[in-house]
Amino acid sequence: MNLELSEEQSAVRQLAKDFVAREIAPHVIEWDRAESVDRSIVKKLGEVGFLGLTVDEEYGGSGGDHLAYCLVTEELGRGDSSVRGIVSVSLGLVAKTIAYWGSEEQKRQWLPGLTSGELVGCFGLTEPGTGSDAGNLSTKAVRDGGDYVINGSKMFITNGTWADVVLLFARTNDAPGHKGVSAFLVPTDTPGLSRRTIHGKLGLRGQATAELALEDVRVPASAMMAPEGKGFSVAMSALAKGRMSVAAGCVGIAQAALDAAVTYATEREQFGKAIAGHQLVQELISDIAVDVDAARLLTWRVADLIDRGQPFTTESSKAKLFASEAAVRAANNALQVFGGYGYIDEYPAGKLLRDARVMTLYEGTSQIQKLVIGRALTGVSAF
Ligand code: CAA
Repeated sequence: MNLELSEEQSAVRQLAKDFVAREIAPHVIEWDRAESVDRSIVKKLGEVGFLGLTVDEEYGGSGGDHLAYCLVTEELGRGDSSVRGIVSVSLGLVAKTIAYWGSEEQKRQWLPGLTSGELVGCFGLTEPGTGSDAGNLSTKAVRDGGDYVINGSKMFITNGTWADVVLLFARTNDAPGHKGVSAFLVPTDTPGLSRRTIHGKLGLRGQATAELALEDVRVPASAMMAPEGKGFSVAMSALAKGRMSVAAGCVGIAQAALDAAVTYATEREQFGKAIAGHQLVQELISDIAVDVDAARLLTWRVADLIDRGQPFTTESSKAKLFASEAAVRAANNALQVFGGYGYIDEYPAGKLLRDARVMTLYEGTSQIQKLVIGRALTGVSAF
């Protein structure tokens, strides 16, 4: 693996840095307090091509490899995880999955809108009763002539209230566990689909997280994506790449924590000198720096494997596990450097910590990642 970035990768990273400085950084505190990022950010993300990365230009995508995708995701995560999440879900979990599994008609129907930012996608897997045990979901889609009629509910859905389309997972037959699950592309304006914003989150406050309710939602059979009963493979393949994207966002959080801690430590004086000159502050800062590097290298390895067509699922779980835990440690260490100022939202460390905390929970908890890694190493499933 070559760790030197190509000219194209360096250019896209710079584009993302400039975008964050111009479009995100000035609004971070305001969006966090208002519990909503400005929706116009979606169109702007589309205009610079960030919502089309790795998707073929034929379908409106902006191409690029998975390392470029990670570089952009990291920079967005450095700026604001609520914005990063929009991309990780609308592009990462929805558009990329349609590009991989969708029929020609489904790609033409959804990809140009999703990659341009005209449309937003969300990923409807988690339910009130099934989080980690996703294969046991209970939303049902029943065949009725040329249609399916869907009933059920979905929980903690990122982009949920903003989305135009939900990649929805529902049970279509009585086969046990994941075998009976199919995937559907459901327009969110379909009668019977309602949404409720979830308020009171610890972090990611700017993100439109929602609960979805489906009551007799009728879609044509052509809304099914991939063969009947293959829905769980669709979900797992989406999450295998999605976990890399979360890991990259976590690298961004940790990098932001490092940048903020170093700047503050060189400015803040105690005991007659900058606190950067105190050994225990240097320890906090160097711990953050090692976490940043290790998380980034694990994440880049996943991108490299994907781009070379190699298996990457276990490596993606390793990257997500380490980077999410590292982001929490890094933000917490940065908060310690800031002392009391770290506890108020005019300084960045508190928000970084609040945003980082969910990374060990969503797209598979740290415990699920450990079991995925353990199964790959031992050949024995603990599920
Ligand atoms: N590509 C294609 N197919 C895959 C795959 C991949 N990468 N990984 C697994 N599959 C297929 C398998 O081949 C298998 O198919 P068959 O039965 O046809 O052979 C099927 O998927 C099931 O695979 P597993 O045996 O690995 O599945 P499992 O039942 O053992 O999975 C689990 C258990 C790993 C715990 C899984 O349930 C899991 O990942 N749980 C966590 C759920 C999760 O991450 N939820 C996140 C919600 S989304 C979210 O947070 C988004 C958001 O809004 C931010």
